[in-house]
Amino acid sequence: MSQTYIDQLKGHIGESVTLKGWLYNKRSSGKLVFLQLRDGTGIVQCVVFKPNNEELFETANSLGQESSIIVTGTVKEDTRSSIGVELDVTGLEVLQNVHDYPITPKEHGTEFLMDHRHLWIRSKKQHAVLKVRHTVIKAVRDYFDNNGFTLADTPIFTPAACEGTTTLFEVDYFDDEKAYLTQSGQLYNEATAAAFGKSYAFGPTFRAEKSKTRRHLTEFWMVEPEVAYASYEDMMDLGEGLILSIVERVLSDRQEELKTLERDISKLEAISGPFPRLHYDDAVKMLQEGYDSSTNLSLLDKRFEWGGDFGAPDETYLSNQFGKPVFVHHFPTAIKGFYFEVDKDRPECALGIDLLAPEGYGEIIGGGERAASLDYLIEQLKAHDLPQETFEWYLDLRRYGSVPHAGFGMGIERTVAWMCGIEHVRETIPFPRMLYRLRP
Ligand code: 4AD
Ligand code: MG
Repeated sequence: MSQTYIDQLKGHIGESVTLKGWLYNKRSSGKLVFLQLRDGTGIVQCVVFKPNNEELFETANSLGQESSIIVTGTVKEDTRSSIGVELDVTGLEVLQNVHDYPITPKEHGTEFLMDHRHLWIRSKKQHAVLKVRHTVIKAVRDYFDNNGFTLADTPIFTPAACEGTTTLFEVDYFDDEKAYLTQSGQLYNEATAAAFGKSYAFGPTFRAEKSKTRRHLTEFWMVEPEVAYASYEDMMDLGEGLILSIVERVLSDRQEELKTLERDISKLEAISGPFPRLHYDDAVKMLQEGYDSSTNLSLLDKRFEWGGDFGAPDETYLSNQFGKPVFVHHFPTAIKGFYFEVDKDRPECALGIDLLAPEGYGEIIGGGERAASLDYLIEQLKAHDLPQETFEWYLDLRRYGSVPHAGFGMGIERTVAWMCGIEHVRETIPFPRMLYRLRP
């Protein structure tokens, strides 16, 4: 039996087709049963009229939510339907009639839904979020592929920290050796950038962070470009182009999903370049002024001092001043990773960049220019208490053809949460891993 997908139905008006899927919802009134059939590409209303076929009517009427069914019928134009068509059912094959599906159209608590994540992803809203995720990832890959980057993925088992030892997941490797799940592919990207000029890695990243916030997962996906002969300023250009192309793609390909999510798309339509680029010094001034003149102390509840790292309220305050993503650069060297290049005239400032998303979504890009000097890096490893022997291969990159270079990492889940306008990153990945969630 051949199969037609719901998103193709508009091209089959007047024809008889077979759809294979699951019962999303059902409504009956007297002589009519309306089956909402979903097949992963959409939902279509299938109408069964009792006088046409009594047996078919009884079967349809007996079906419970998420029953697996194969439906044959005639495609009819229907202007009231959001997809423009409905189906007049002529045949129905029931693979499994389900009567105790745990997720009903009534309200369930988040914990219950998260425990049933394997089923929850069938619901309209979750389905829409994951479709947006797919499009974000596609846009990301196309952006780098079309701009001369080579995909060179980096290992997940690593012997050392990149972003600080406090957030490492340790695993037993062979012969009593310890390995760590990667926190970032960056150090390896620096090697591939010296081989390819422009490279990127895209994969899962792990942080043993005990943060229980709406922005943190313990396993998340990060795309990380790295470019030889590039500065931190080049990374702001690259990051801006990346974000603009993601927003454009989501708006062009995911209108239906954004509607399902009730996303205020005017907020996304308003995103245009250039993004403001704020020196850390000026960001600090804005935060201090915001505090001093604030009548609402709940947002900025303490005066920000130079040298500090931004908390979520600081990031939200800063990005709210612009209504579009804003770059902050020149962070204090002391709060940054060991590998950052510093401003020659002000060594207390590292050439790091962060991109803060609007609407309170916080930092979605972090990166910057890497230190090119061998001696400086050796000093930095000592200062950060990192074992030089583990990093010898990395230091080779400074021994053999060291050049100025830069890169960044963009978190997929935070970006998807922003596109969708949803509260928490846990809904932006099929099976989230968080401080208190390892299941299902
Ligand atoms: O700022 P981060 O830690 O940067 C790095 O790892 C660099 N080594 C990347 C590089 O330069 N190649 O992380 C980059 C981005 C953040 O801006 C954020 O979007 C995301 O990764 N991210 C997280 N997303 C979800 N949950 C977490 N716990 C995250 N930690 C970082
Ligand atoms: Mg960061």
